[in-house]
Amino acid sequence: MVGSGFSFIGRVLVLLQLLIRIHAWGKEGHHATCKIAEGLLSEDAAAAVKVLLPKYANGDLASVCSWPDEIKHNYHWRWSGPLHYVDTPDFRCNYEYCRDCHDTAGRKDRCVTGAIYNYTMQLMTYKGSASEQKYNLTEALLFLSHFLGDVHQPLHVGFLGDEGGNTITVRWYRRKTNLHHVWDNMIIESAMKTFYNSDLEVMIQAIQRNITEDWSSDISLWENCSSASRACPDPYASESIRLACKYAYRNATPGITLSDDYFLSRLPVVERRLAQGGVRLAGTLNRIFSTKPLTLISAA
Ligand code: ADE
Ligand code: ZN
Ligand code: ZN
Repeated sequence: MVGSGFSFIGRVLVLLQLLIRIHAWGKEGHHATCKIAEGLLSEDAAAAVKVLLPKYANGDLASVCSWPDEIKHNYHWRWSGPLHYVDTPDFRCNYEYCRDCHDTAGRKDRCVTGAIYNYTMQLMTYKGSASEQKYNLTEALLFLSHFLGDVHQPLHVGFLGDEGGNTITVRWYRRKTNLHHVWDNMIIESAMKTFYNSDLEVMIQAIQRNITEDWSSDISLWENCSSASRACPDPYASESIRLACKYAYRNATPGITLSDDYFLSRLPVVERRLAQGGVRLAGTLNRIFSTKPLTLISAA
């Protein structure tokens, strides 16, 4: 009796641990983009972020960057579900805001790029303190930081018919999963295990080294945004659907087993997208919280 009781509790514990780990895996891409962004914030932006972060974040933006994923299935936050992605008509490898940015009920602007414009506009009303605001700017900061990560995940700008790869069942090595999950989690997870001693911080440091060494001449191109709105999500979404067509969907037919060939050829794409997401999140926050007029920022 005691033995079987223990094994039941044991099994529940293992299951719980597994659920917690599955949950934590989803956080890694967002943790990486926000950590990279934190290292690139201007003094003004870092000060504003510090004021706006919830207390439980302990001053660390990266620790709360997955919050929108954690609440999106909760009844009160259901409306935020469509804000995590934007899909194009099937097999169309380009993105157009007017054509694509709507939810399944056809309501315009309810998509990831629309959400980035909206939360950028809200954060522009920040006047130096979190109190007496029309908008909840803590929420706006967490949503904006998360959605800038999402728009860089190629399959968050995928095809309507397969829900950005969610309905394409594949095997990742021996595990049954779907193509969307491969790009959200599996490639990053396998990279951590294979190359980074299972340590996310080591992986982030390697990406940061790439940014300052190999990609340093690309940074100003990545950051470039002269929009009066101070956010430029449309080119990021266009890049994503092109990458989705060229790398994510390619050779990933339903039922296929994806392993070394796919992993090793797609990992550089994932690492570059995490870097771009981080650099552009910092650039966007630096523009939003800059005390200088836009003309001076874009000339700098
Ligand atoms: N649901 C429908 N399309 C999606 C996408 N591209 N990404 C995430 N969830 C989705
Ligand atoms: Zn998301
Ligand atoms: Zn996703």
